[in-house]
Amino acid sequence: MAATQTPKRPASTTPKGGLEGIVAGRSALCDIDGRTGRLLYAGYDIVDLAKDSSFEETCWLLWHGELPSKEELQGLRAELGANLDPRASVWDIAADAPDSADRMDLLRTQVSLLGMSDPDVAENSDDANRAKATRLVAQTPALIATSERISAGFAPADVDPEQSIAWNFLHLLHGEAPEPADVRAFDVCLILHAEHGMNASTFAARVTAATLSDMHSAVVSAIGTLKGPLHGGANERVMELLRDLPDVAGTRQHVEAMLAAKQRIMGFGHRVYRTEDPRATILREYSRELGERHGEKKWYELTVAVEKAVHETKGLYPNVDLYSGSVYTSLGIPQRLFTPIFAMSRMAGWTANVMEQHRDNRLIRPDSEYVGPAPRDYVPTEAR
Ligand code: SDX
Repeated sequence: MAATQTPKRPASTTPKGGLEGIVAGRSALCDIDGRTGRLLYAGYDIVDLAKDSSFEETCWLLWHGELPSKEELQGLRAELGANLDPRASVWDIAADAPDSADRMDLLRTQVSLLGMSDPDVAENSDDANRAKATRLVAQTPALIATSERISAGFAPADVDPEQSIAWNFLHLLHGEAPEPADVRAFDVCLILHAEHGMNASTFAARVTAATLSDMHSAVVSAIGTLKGPLHGGANERVMELLRDLPDVAGTRQHVEAMLAAKQRIMGFGHRVYRTEDPRATILREYSRELGERHGEKKWYELTVAVEKAVHETKGLYPNVDLYSGSVYTSLGIPQRLFTPIFAMSRMAGWTANVMEQHRDNRLIRPDSEYVGPAPRDYVPTEAR
């Protein structure tokens, strides 16, 4: 080839960029029908799982591909219960972290520390990965809730191995026994956020695992990715928007001005869904019920007003992040924990994807379209 010829690269197969429409792998974990707005975990519709299942059952389903028997579920609950308390050094990080530190940065750092001392860190076998996945799902509620209590100057609350992940998170955060209806609402939030196909943070986890790096490193990659406001970070920004709104009556004008200024309204739009995100449908109902039961419907009413204005003005549908803000606020959860909670739930999906990748692996290394300068000769410094 003549020196001046640019090596031919495959023309870009991603017309809009962002790997839109590109199938980046095979998975048996999740199926999304963006046209009809259906989401299934290993064949089970999340509408059924949200109605009848639990986060613990969902973890088992994602890790094993089947719903657990009664004995299997009891065994998993016992294993989770025995691992709720992470090693002490993670609390030193929480105490040292400046209060201004993003809580996703704190979580990412703590998971990184846990990885260094995990007994199975060097092992990528199914058994080792399942043990690590169980420890990560069990320990993340405390990493988030207890760190928040330490930052607020409160003594850590105790874990209760007999209770669920949802119960323990709310108890660790508030330091008192949560209401059963609040526990159920939060458990459903954890089910709904657990898995969602090849989303950005799961893709990051799979790329990391595909180099045969370990599960904790893959999860650290995923946490850093989920933090972004175009992904998991949207839920905190939805709450910022709600707090900026004057009232329901002033919402439409506020939203229209944002859209006219070409601003993104967080909690709307999706790369896959071309209709309402089925998780938003379920969370809307919990937002209404929690707002009524806790005597503060304002956040639900403002969210409905935003949804109406955005849909009528731009034709966009709500995604999972729109109603989670009002749900978590009704549960007394501080806004800065909203995205870490997303990570706590998606820990189930990320770890399941890492196991699946390690079971049938090939290095993930796509091509890129070269659009730089043609080959050229080096020019010494004095001649430049
Ligand atoms: C999650 O992938 C997953 O599965 C993720 C997730 C999961 O469970 O893991 O579902 C979780 O990340 C949900 C999404 C949370 N993010 C947000 O709510 C941020 C706001 N939404 C967007 O920025 C946007 O909708 C994306 C990033 C979610 C998807 O964007 P795409 O597919 O890249 O689409 P795009 O940016 O090319 O937008 C297409 C058009 C554009 O209009 P035009 O410039 O063509 O006129 O729609 C507009 C955009 O301007 N648009 C929006 C908008 N989302 C899209 N306009 C205003 N506000 C928005 N939110």
